[in-house]
Amino acid sequence: MAKRSKKAFYITTPIYYVNDVPHIGHTYTTIIADALSRFQKLLGNKVFFLTGTDEHGQKVEKAATERGLQPIELADQVVGKYQDLWKAVNISNDFFIRTTEQFHEKGVQKIFKKLMEKDDIYKGTYKGLYCVSDENFLSEDVPLEKGGYKICPDCGKRADVVSEECYFFKLSAYQKPLLDFYAKFPAFVRPPSRMNEVVSFVKQGLKDLSITRTTVKWGIPVPDDPDHTIYVWFDALHNYLTGIGYDWNMELFEKFWPATVHLIGKDILRQHAIYWPAFLMAAEFPLPQTVFGHGWWLKDEKKMSKSKGNVLDPYLILDTFGPDPLRYFLLREIPIGLDGNFSHEGFVHRVNSDLANDLGNLVQRTLIMIQNYFNGKIDETDKEEKLDKEIRLEFDSLKKKVLESSEDYALNKTLEEIWAYINSVNRYLAVNEPWKLVKDQSKRKRLARILYQAAAALRGISYLIFPVMPESSEKIWSFLGEAKPIQEKTFSELKFEDLKLGQKIEKPKPLFPRITLKDFLKEEETEPSPEIKEEKMEHITFDEFKRMDFRVGEVLKAEKVEGTDKLLKLEVDIGTETRTMVAGVADVYTAEELVGKKFIVIVNLKPAVIRGIESQGMLLAAEVEGKATIPFFDKDILTGAKVR
Ligand code: ME8
Ligand code: MG
Repeated sequence: MAKRSKKAFYITTPIYYVNDVPHIGHTYTTIIADALSRFQKLLGNKVFFLTGTDEHGQKVEKAATERGLQPIELADQVVGKYQDLWKAVNISNDFFIRTTEQFHEKGVQKIFKKLMEKDDIYKGTYKGLYCVSDENFLSEDVPLEKGGYKICPDCGKRADVVSEECYFFKLSAYQKPLLDFYAKFPAFVRPPSRMNEVVSFVKQGLKDLSITRTTVKWGIPVPDDPDHTIYVWFDALHNYLTGIGYDWNMELFEKFWPATVHLIGKDILRQHAIYWPAFLMAAEFPLPQTVFGHGWWLKDEKKMSKSKGNVLDPYLILDTFGPDPLRYFLLREIPIGLDGNFSHEGFVHRVNSDLANDLGNLVQRTLIMIQNYFNGKIDETDKEEKLDKEIRLEFDSLKKKVLESSEDYALNKTLEEIWAYINSVNRYLAVNEPWKLVKDQSKRKRLARILYQAAAALRGISYLIFPVMPESSEKIWSFLGEAKPIQEKTFSELKFEDLKLGQKIEKPKPLFPRITLKDFLKEEETEPSPEIKEEKMEHITFDEFKRMDFRVGEVLKAEKVEGTDKLLKLEVDIGTETRTMVAGVADVYTAEELVGKKFIVIVNLKPAVIRGIESQGMLLAAEVEGKATIPFFDKDILTGAKVR
């Protein structure tokens, strides 16, 4: 593996498309990058952490048109959503790049020109398929569907047939240089399984890549040929150069290029592991050290994605639980290379068992004992006994493990190690039973020793969780009477025995309340990402309205959904059949009073699973401050009658 000469750590996330608001998937990548970057900063390294938005191209152009906006208007709105979200989850990026900024556009044009001059770019005609959702040119051997069209094998959406004059990048010429590069630096792509994927793909041969469009207006113009715009991936990848100063702050650029790690999801591996190093070779830049392709968050076993509409809005977790439980859960739940299914049960379990029980209890009982037994002061201790020494030495070895796994990007392992130590400290307290020693005046120093070890361990723990849970970490750190911010102490300076005798300890405030599934109820009744749509009231056509099948429904049976306060399960006669519907009205109506009632239901809404029950329709109600009022019909109206 290549050793870096300077201790600079440059980490990037993908720059996200602005066709829609961010979801848990984007949050995941950005949180990993944030935790890694914070860790490197604690090590005392020079760190640059870049994230941003990918704003040009057909996908964004199309999304803007659909909303009746100019692309830049949509971009401005969505960029705000990204920036707000990053603030809400405590992302500490050093810069936020937007590809519509002039310095970026100029940088891309400059590199494009350079490749033209080197004859790495030539003019031709592209005939083939294009997937707008992925912004990808597809190889032509995609089979024809029954309907006579082709679909993108990656995302399953219909692909467009494109035939247009364009500029090509001579990707084929880089097949051998790339294979040589991969052989020399096998850790260029991680995890190793992804490297294998890349190598076998390149071995099959590379076709030249179209890197301009004439049918897309929303892009950076090709220098001296403005009928063409630069292909969005050529544009976007170069953000990693322009975002640290390429062509506008060369001092910064020289300090940080090449990147230490491009963190990405495995969906965009090919662009990062093949196109990107080829572009860089052509333009004669040093190559990045690592491209890390992490796994996907799935919902109901499918990749969570904006275009599938199965995304989770991070705010539904953030608003209730704050940033740290979300950061912890995302980083702890799945090893970085693998896929994971997002489940609410999993979230509740993690938060309660790891945060409320293991860490939360340790903080509470240690600090409260110091309050109660020693008036909130770290008191004179006796000598270390065997178990005391063990808990101190275990901390030293924890530090080594944390260093190793965090430098290896394995944050789930880092957290596992820290939690193993938290449990050791909890066991240490259980075995030593300080709450019994307090009754014996002759054991004051022994008692003080036990609480010293626990508090010193906790101080170390609070430091080590800083990259993942900065807010809670700082709280515990300051409960322990530490006045200086954590960042002022480097990782190597951190010592167990640095907890000072005589130090004043604050009364702890509760950190992680226990949670239940009910705390998620709000989410299941809310449609994802309504924010943008609400900003503009749009008209729908009469034809669109006609597609909605409203009818008079009559309730045959009703019962509470177990374990919820708000949900009723209804059997509703809609004239032609009986449907099951779940309605969030139990805070206003009882099950009994709804039986026999008639109201408007929509019956051709896509069924949704709520609390494991398939809801096959929805009743209409007025909503005031979260409470429903159902407009009921008179009894004698025909059940199943159409409502228009
Ligand atoms: O691809 N699980 O942008 P994008 C985990 N603009 N991570 C996920 C995810 C999921 N279900 N869904 C999305 C683009 N992500 C281009 C990138 S870079 C020069 C240009 C994360 O908005 C993951 O990091 O589609 C994935 O690679 C990225 O969001 C794709 O974001
Ligand atoms: Mg995508």
